[in-house]
Amino acid sequence: MASRDPLDGARVVLGVTGSIAAYKAVMLASALHQAGAIVEVILTREAAELVRPLSFQAITHRPVHQEMFSLLAETEIGHVTLGHQADVVVVAPATAHTLARLALGLGDDLLATTVLATRAPLVIAPAMETNMLLHPATQGHLRTLRERGAVIVEPEAGHLASGARGVGRLAEPAVILDTVRVVLARRGDLAGWRVVVTAGGTQEPIDPVRVLANRSSGKMGFAVAQAARDRGAQVTLIVGATSVAPPHGVRVIEAPTARTMCEAVLRTIAEADALVMAAAVADYEAAAPAAQKIKKREERLVLELVPTPDILGTVAAQRAAGALPERLLVVGFAAESADLLTHAREKLRRKRLDLIVANDIMAAGSGFGTDTNQVVLLDRSGAERALPLLPKLDVAHALWDHVLALRQQEVRAR
Ligand code: CTP
Repeated sequence: MASRDPLDGARVVLGVTGSIAAYKAVMLASALHQAGAIVEVILTREAAELVRPLSFQAITHRPVHQEMFSLLAETEIGHVTLGHQADVVVVAPATAHTLARLALGLGDDLLATTVLATRAPLVIAPAMETNMLLHPATQGHLRTLRERGAVIVEPEAGHLASGARGVGRLAEPAVILDTVRVVLARRGDLAGWRVVVTAGGTQEPIDPVRVLANRSSGKMGFAVAQAARDRGAQVTLIVGATSVAPPHGVRVIEAPTARTMCEAVLRTIAEADALVMAAAVADYEAAAPAAQKIKKREERLVLELVPTPDILGTVAAQRAAGALPERLLVVGFAAESADLLTHAREKLRRKRLDLIVANDIMAAGSGFGTDTNQVVLLDRSGAERALPLLPKLDVAHALWDHVLALRQQEVRAR
């Protein structure tokens, strides 16, 4: 399957300015290149004092741009072509001085003229000493740039080059990378969609120490969220217990139990175009969780369990009652160890789903904790599509392709 990463094939101008964090831009350039982007690096004079052009050249396999009026490039009006060709311009790290230049619209070097001449979106990752960052002048420039549409990747708090601790550290390259993906995805086929995705397992308390849990890692739900993000959707990710970190660039709501997850889903779907329930929700919770740690006293311990709310069941009832927007498309998962399709068809009907993703957790490379999954997509019209064993991200894209096809059917039927 072809890469669906918005960075793949994108022309990215990476402007590197004279912050001590300039060396981190080498890692950023490398990550952009590895994701398939065509990376044009512009180094300011100060940045070239801190990090050598050759480092970038070796990584991006392209010449590094430094001069506004390079004799070679100027035959093609070099000081504006980079801006014209760019799909996105990223300034990382951005110093206080460069923020001021960009806010004022100065054209005093190649980076400044490129930013002036481009119509591409601008992503800026500032990095500087805390007082410089918090100075009203810098804050004013950031505000101006934001108002003009630039996306600012907030600097982090932590250890600074000065030896002090404070805010001003360049955001992690992974965060900058995902921000660039979100910006590029504005052209994606899910642009304008608001989607809610649940991921991970729930943990139902037995006492203050123990929980009833399951083996869900969260990887499948995170892939669904990431794929939607990379196609331009605004994603709310409702997360239970997981063993991996959620993707950047999505709104995360923590919901450790079936009940809290149910509340979070009902609260967020009123505005949504799609709900994907990839979470492994506990079907039972302790009837009366103990307030204190249960001591090992008895020969036998009997735990009384009662059903949790069925989230998709509740959503189905609300839909039937007309309490939810008609445009909401609802996708469930069926993780089964036997009679996969029979169970999946029954759940599709019982939970009034538009689509169900059936996966056989006993198959090799499929199910909990793996990076791959083998699934069958079954929709409300009776269509069933078996996919081969695929990375979870590819399964997620196939899910969204199917959701979009269902939406198109609805539009045609009107
Ligand atoms: N689900 C839910 N609320 C629950 C349990 C499950 O919304 N309390 C959702 C899951 O997120 C999944 C779908 O329902 O998308 C199917 O989950 P599954 O556990 O397979 O279905 P159950 O109805 O619980 O059936 P069973 O456990 O008997 O297989």
